[in-house]
Amino acid sequence: MSETAELKLEGNVYTLPIVEGTENEKAIDIAKLRDQTGFITLDSGFKNTGATKSSITFLDGEKGILKYRGYSIEQLAEKSTFLEVAYLLIYGNLPTQKQIEDFQHQISRHTLVHEDMKKFFDGFPSKSHPMGQLSSLVCSLSSFYPESLDPNQTKEEFDLTIIKLLGKMATIVSWIYKKSLGHPVIYPKNKYDYVTNFLHMTFGQRTEEVEIDEVVIDAMNKLLILHADHEQNCSTSTVRIVGSSDCNLYASISAGISALWGPLHGGANQAVIEMLEKIKNDGGDVDKWVNKAKDKNDSFRLMGFGHRVYKNFDPRAKIIKKACDDILEKLGINDPVLDIAKKLEEVALSDPYFVERKLYPNVDFYSGIIYRALGFPTEMFTVLFALGRLPGWIAQWKEMRENKEPIGRPRQVYVGENDRDFVPIEKR
Ligand code: CMC
Repeated sequence: MSETAELKLEGNVYTLPIVEGTENEKAIDIAKLRDQTGFITLDSGFKNTGATKSSITFLDGEKGILKYRGYSIEQLAEKSTFLEVAYLLIYGNLPTQKQIEDFQHQISRHTLVHEDMKKFFDGFPSKSHPMGQLSSLVCSLSSFYPESLDPNQTKEEFDLTIIKLLGKMATIVSWIYKKSLGHPVIYPKNKYDYVTNFLHMTFGQRTEEVEIDEVVIDAMNKLLILHADHEQNCSTSTVRIVGSSDCNLYASISAGISALWGPLHGGANQAVIEMLEKIKNDGGDVDKWVNKAKDKNDSFRLMGFGHRVYKNFDPRAKIIKKACDDILEKLGINDPVLDIAKKLEEVALSDPYFVERKLYPNVDFYSGIIYRALGFPTEMFTVLFALGRLPGWIAQWKEMRENKEPIGRPRQVYVGENDRDFVPIEKR
């Protein structure tokens, strides 16, 4: 007989099934709890709530393990490419040579965006944040490709929607960057692979041929792979819950982009660099800022530290830290902000406040330094996170649909006023 849990409630004993995952994590299945007992569970921030069964990404926050479809993030970052990882996440297996060639070929046929989309850029104020632009532009794809609105798309039609989104996203991201500089956009070129094409559109010039350094291509592949999925985080849960209403893929991903924007989530990579700059300009007194972060009367937090799930170390941060050292050395860059980052890490990691709360540097702590070294402005950092996370969001949306999950609709415990009689405005 499989294991069960017993719940004692108001003199009754209820038996609840236990669900066990392939990596042996266990969950109490409460799907019938309200029907059987009249009770619901309350879990603010979903700290203890499993929203789904998923076979995409496994994460062990205590041991610092992250795997996509069973492959360790360390192996993928070292040996794979972003496009290959995208295929793995979306379709479940590493592609064969033919499959990856077809995938690349199809994507390269869909990298152009509708010329009318360029007009959107004229409408955004010149200083508008790239994440707001990205979210709007991705959502607007649903207007250009209205066939995506049909929740009953065939597998082939849906695959094409995926391909279009992957292809156009890189073009949109690079065009946001170009427009922020006031430069003419660069069109995609089919001779390049996915990441090289993106870098070409971003750093290429109309006036001259620009050769993209292999070191930069390699770094970009690594960064995008490390960001490609992270199971049921804030933005991914958003994508799944929006999609659960049968909303189209473009609008669901646009909602995920908005969720990612916040500084407690993907927006932290921008916030980290801004914080490090601030500390540097303030004289570089790291202790002072660590003390501020510990002060409960001060709202300041060490950005890039702490994680909801990782309570040991963030395996992505470990890889990025090394990549950061390598890239800065290869590109011959001496960034004073990196010295501040290293000091901050050292001080925080030996401070009981951070040790007791298991607050370690997360993926965002070092990624910004690499993006800066590659030449991206700070406001583009979270957009790059979104480009990396795209295959994960697509895979999660697809899985949710294929599993025919019901519409996401949490409950609440109401704590407001009871019955009140309406009072006319002159008597209030
Ligand atoms: N600096 C100072 N104190 C912190 C920090 C921090 N960065 N993070 C958490 N704490 C403290 C917090 O005050 C609390 O202390 P106490 O127990 O005394 O009240 C304790 O640690 C637990 O924090 P929490 O806010 O309850 O933890 P959470 O799991 O709800 O939040 C987090 C996780 C990532 C939102 C939070 O650690 C944070 O705000 N970090 C800074 C922002 C950041 O770097 N975000 C990127 C996350 S990784 C990339 C991604 O996946 O998006």
